[in-house]
Amino acid sequence: MRTVLHCHPAFPVGPVRPRLFGSFVEHFGRCVYGGIYEPGHPKADEEGLRGDVLDLVRELGVTVVRYPGGNFVSGYRWEDGVGPVRDRPVRLDGSWRSVETNRFGLGEFAGWAAKAGVETMLAVNLGTRGVQEALDLLEYANHPGGTRLSDQRVADGTGDPLGIRMWCLGNEMDGPWQTGHKTATEYGRLAAETARAMRMLDPGLELVACGSSGSGMPTFGEWEHTVLELAYDLVDHVSAHAYYEATPEDPGSFLASAVDMDRMIEAVVATADAVGAKLKSRKRIMVSFDEWNVWYQSRLGDCLPKDWTVAPRISEDAYTVSDAVVVGNLLISLLRHADRVAAACQAQLVNAIAPIRAEPGGPAWRQTIFHPFAQAARHARGTVLQTRLSGPTYETARYGEVPVVDATAVHDADAGLLTVFAVSRHRTEPVPLRLDLAALPGYDLVEHSVLADPDPLAVNSRAEPERVTPGDATGAARRTETALDVTLPPTSWNVLRLRTNEGVIR
Ligand code: AHR
Repeated sequence: MRTVLHCHPAFPVGPVRPRLFGSFVEHFGRCVYGGIYEPGHPKADEEGLRGDVLDLVRELGVTVVRYPGGNFVSGYRWEDGVGPVRDRPVRLDGSWRSVETNRFGLGEFAGWAAKAGVETMLAVNLGTRGVQEALDLLEYANHPGGTRLSDQRVADGTGDPLGIRMWCLGNEMDGPWQTGHKTATEYGRLAAETARAMRMLDPGLELVACGSSGSGMPTFGEWEHTVLELAYDLVDHVSAHAYYEATPEDPGSFLASAVDMDRMIEAVVATADAVGAKLKSRKRIMVSFDEWNVWYQSRLGDCLPKDWTVAPRISEDAYTVSDAVVVGNLLISLLRHADRVAAACQAQLVNAIAPIRAEPGGPAWRQTIFHPFAQAARHARGTVLQTRLSGPTYETARYGEVPVVDATAVHDADAGLLTVFAVSRHRTEPVPLRLDLAALPGYDLVEHSVLADPDPLAVNSRAEPERVTPGDATGAARRTETALDVTLPPTSWNVLRLRTNEGVIR
């Protein structure tokens, strides 16, 4: 039985926001040290930034990068990372049991972000610190000059203000693992007062209140409700975080992880709108899904360092084809909610839980999960269309009955392009997909790109960096008068690009 995807250009979800293709650089494992920054590496520039990694970041199509954490930020003193490097203190980072040299800080990150061509999303520490330190950081980063902290930035070598618009008010404050963990009321009050004070310095900031660190948290829902009741008028976004991992006994649920992301986004939006309705506010809070990925957290205990070292290898997961299909499906979920998800950051960028791997003194390469991200970032241009999928389903232990095929469609009317992103969660058989093109008559297939492999556990590695790359299945498609029929291989990520031959439709 085939799946049919229906869409119509008259029914949009909303424009594709560039910030959906965000990423995350935390002082975590080898993401910074030995990742984006490795002085002395043959490909590093005069600032110690790895050029090969920068090239891959640009190819990935990342638009915005959250920095510097994550759990790390909740014990971080931003002042440690600015000023002459020789004067910067070496500190203990309890969140990742690592030694932080502070050789890399905000100025170095801003320089890297400029070279990568990405916007910065900056997180402030609301774990061990509060309103004053957030104000100081804002003044240092964004004020043009003529004050103590802005002049210090100029003296530190960054003459132009950084112009950072999007600020995260802490990180995962709902999590008992977080340094300075708080109750929803404690955090909501602190977030509100930090936001109020930051807005006094710059009313144009976009502020993100911490939502839940996962849909499985016991306080999920209640946390967002309490925090937003206290901070609704002062913030623009509420964060959401989600990580998924495969278990050998339940691959079917893992492949359907995007069902959880769909439900999480819809629950956060419903909660935020309920608070808005109660407050009789016309303002709509948006979701900043600023940490998401496949992450083998169950292996974290094995790789957390016993001794205090600089940049230990933590969570350097080698991603499989199945992982890439799930990552592609999570991107479909984010696109499907383009009307309410303002930003999303894949966590993280290099080495730790990352699409890019880099070896000290050695090469950098694309993990399997690099490909769906890069393809979505490149081809999701225009407007996300509402879609209806009808087709076969299967039963999962975690999410009940779920569709075998999931998909979304993006229409660029100006360019006359329709792009369909689709995954097959079927693990053994190829499955047929029909695109109903009755409302898009002139469109024909120009490319069907497929990421799949006879071995769904295949990975890319230093020895075989190109083992898994997207292939071409364009020739196998069949166009009829009102539809396009394609076949999706088992456990696959697919990008279907269609163009109209009849001129641009507006
Ligand atoms: O991305 C890794 C960690 O996951 C982050 O530091 C934290 O915010 C989350 O729990």
